[in-house]
Amino acid sequence: MQHNKVLILDFGSQYTQLIARRVRELNIYCEIHPYNKIPTSIEEYKAVILSGSPFSVRGDDAPHPDLSQIRGKKPLLAVCYGAQYLAHFSGGEVAPSNTREYGRANLDFVKENEAFFAGISRGSQVWMSHSDTIKHLPTNGVLLASTHDVENAAFKIEGEQTYAIQFHPEVYHSTDGKQLLENFLVHIAKVNQDWTPQSFVEETVDGLKEKLGNDKVVLGLSGGVDSSVAAILLHKAIGKNLYCIFVNNGLLRKNEFENVLKQYEGMGLNVKGVDASARFLDTLKGLSDPEEKRKAIGNAFIEVFDDEAHRIEDVKWLAQGTIYPDVIESVSATGGPSATIKSHHNVGGLPDFMKLKIVEPLRMLFKDEVRRVGASMDMDKDLLGRHPFPGPGLAIRILGDLTREKIRILQEVDAIFIDNLKSWNLYDKVWQAGAILLPVNSVGVMGDERTYEKCVALRAVESTDGMTADWVNLPYEFLQKTSNEIINKVKGVNRVVYDISSKPPATIEWE
Ligand code: XMP
Repeated sequence: MQHNKVLILDFGSQYTQLIARRVRELNIYCEIHPYNKIPTSIEEYKAVILSGSPFSVRGDDAPHPDLSQIRGKKPLLAVCYGAQYLAHFSGGEVAPSNTREYGRANLDFVKENEAFFAGISRGSQVWMSHSDTIKHLPTNGVLLASTHDVENAAFKIEGEQTYAIQFHPEVYHSTDGKQLLENFLVHIAKVNQDWTPQSFVEETVDGLKEKLGNDKVVLGLSGGVDSSVAAILLHKAIGKNLYCIFVNNGLLRKNEFENVLKQYEGMGLNVKGVDASARFLDTLKGLSDPEEKRKAIGNAFIEVFDDEAHRIEDVKWLAQGTIYPDVIESVSATGGPSATIKSHHNVGGLPDFMKLKIVEPLRMLFKDEVRRVGASMDMDKDLLGRHPFPGPGLAIRILGDLTREKIRILQEVDAIFIDNLKSWNLYDKVWQAGAILLPVNSVGVMGDERTYEKCVALRAVESTDGMTADWVNLPYEFLQKTSNEIINKVKGVNRVVYDISSKPPATIEWE
């Protein structure tokens, strides 16, 4: 089945991914492409959205793509920079604005009986973020809405299905933003809402069958959501020809290797657990710099994985749990670095498994969609709801050098913290949580004895994508109980602190 597709042309706005997420929430499939790489198969797209941009249309280096295949030929929604671009090149005028046009605003004029504004009334809050403004509408422009400071907040072009808005419907602060996108896409552009997790699973499995045939595929499982969902999709398509490798680097959570391995086996996956803890700890010996630790872990992983992949005779493909934000980053209009990094690899020097062909079944999905797809395949709720966990694991939560004893202490502390979050029904309200072992000893007293032991920090954050985050206001009683339990049960710890820093300026991890 061919889905109706929407094209989002990216002019480099920080909000472009949000547009795609809002569109997908309407069960409409969309793709983001950079403004300078408009797909040649433009007729496949049912509607087009132009994103915002950090540029000014009046700047020499601003994006000025040729829209002649789109404008007037397809339903078009131009957002912020997109709207200014339309105005600037079609007989209107864009100039620096005199008043502040950032943040909240309210629509104080809305043209009546406009399908574009159906269900949205005067007063609706919208989010502005621009320093230029449209002084005069383009030729055939019809004003649809204004705010107190922005006269030409929304307009359409007479005789075309072209709409333009200077505010951002994709951010949550535009309270009717989703309704507006629905009005444009569903009611005006007549795009079908046929993008569902079930349809994704069916089509992906069929596609994988066709692409992979009888080939063997190797996949590194991490215990996380993305690699697990990718594995289940591949398993549905090729069964035992999928060879999964789950490496214990000795830096996982307490009992995680055994528990997750069992869970994978229970799901019918052909999975090999490789306990390489000793090898990892060996290469980490004496390292205390965070980046050196990361590098050592990355290299050790490549060696272990390469050894294991070699044991699979005649394997042709490497499957990865790459998701859409990684893909967009590597092709974004502002030029993410990952594409260049990959293309500059010296192929001769790569480990053998990296010479395999790559298959990435989740490369068009956002994280929340990955979870929905997993749920539609009846995957375990706990597995799908797991917090993100960094690849280098506890190594970057033990500040400074690593020892077996430090890892043991941190695993115990972390397990108490996480178990308590679950039993207090707080786990699902938190984006990510964990404990950090600090490189300080402090004085304490236990019974009549003076102690001089370790201090641990607890960290729990709220976030939607890990890019920004805030600490979670956990109940005092919870912190009190958890702190007591840690100090009473974990030998070697006499002090617990709670991290109340937001990101930015802090980061989620401490290293
Ligand atoms: P920061 O600390 O940068 O973390 O705020 C943002 C998110 O990324 C995770 N993280 C990592 N994940 N390898 C990973 O696979 C790493 O080296 C790494 N460092 C941070 C972190 O857990 C959070 O989810």
